[in-house]
Amino acid sequence: MPSCTATESETFNMPYKPEIAVVSNPEELSLRAAEEFIQRSEESIREKGYFTAALSGGSTPKELYRLLADNRCNNRVTWERVNLFWSDERCVPPGHIKSNYRMVRELLIDKVPIPKGNVYRMPAELGDHARAAREYTQTLKTFFHLKAGEFPRFDLILLGMGDDGHTASLFPHTPALDDTGGLVSANYVEKLGEYRLTLTVPLIKRAAHIIFLISGESKAAVLRDVVEGTYQPYRLPSQFIRPENGRLLYLTDRMAASKLTGG
Ligand code: 6PG
Repeated sequence: MPSCTATESETFNMPYKPEIAVVSNPEELSLRAAEEFIQRSEESIREKGYFTAALSGGSTPKELYRLLADNRCNNRVTWERVNLFWSDERCVPPGHIKSNYRMVRELLIDKVPIPKGNVYRMPAELGDHARAAREYTQTLKTFFHLKAGEFPRFDLILLGMGDDGHTASLFPHTPALDDTGGLVSANYVEKLGEYRLTLTVPLIKRAAHIIFLISGESKAAVLRDVVEGTYQPYRLPSQFIRPENGRLLYLTDRMAASKLTGG
């Protein structure tokens, strides 16, 4: 057991112990995630008059987005004060079946009274991926009134986790993992043979609330490796996500948590 005066390096190499909430099934996961979204939005709007959230793509959060559009949740969110961004995006047009924006628009945005000007889509249709990253970076700098070298502090960033340990579009052994100064990266993912746009590690780490949504047996091994295994973030990029001055919650269902110690 390291001494209670462990140095930063010893602490850094210890398995990081994030908050882990295990709920019984995927439906409960989505309900709990919706409650988190609602409470974080209420808190932020009460404190500063608006709420900023970067949304995850993938399949896990779909039911969450449906729930937020449902009347039971919809009228608990002051949508006029909500500002939506994306954690990452596939480099396709906004109407493409693989587009994270399209998925969120269909399940949520088209069904709630959020002003269209409060929806900040990544310009992933641009063939020049570096330009797309620069443009979204400028979008963030303008919205958050950033000075040179500053990072935005999102109220909430929702993330998924791939069974290879990636999150957002921060895939193992890809260039974006070393983007320590940027806000948005155009990341070439060799295993997919395509570019992705992604928020960077330093940006994500600065959010007030970072919530991973992880569901199903297929994620059990990787979740154990990420949370309880040795620190090897280039192989398991989700391990990079340690909050700088905020809260990290792994929200999982029982199947995904089944390989955790005591899971
Ligand atoms: C994406 C996501 C990606 C996703 C994970 C988990 O654009 O696909 O941002 O990081 O969250 O791959 O995906 P599932 O939720 O589908 O398992």
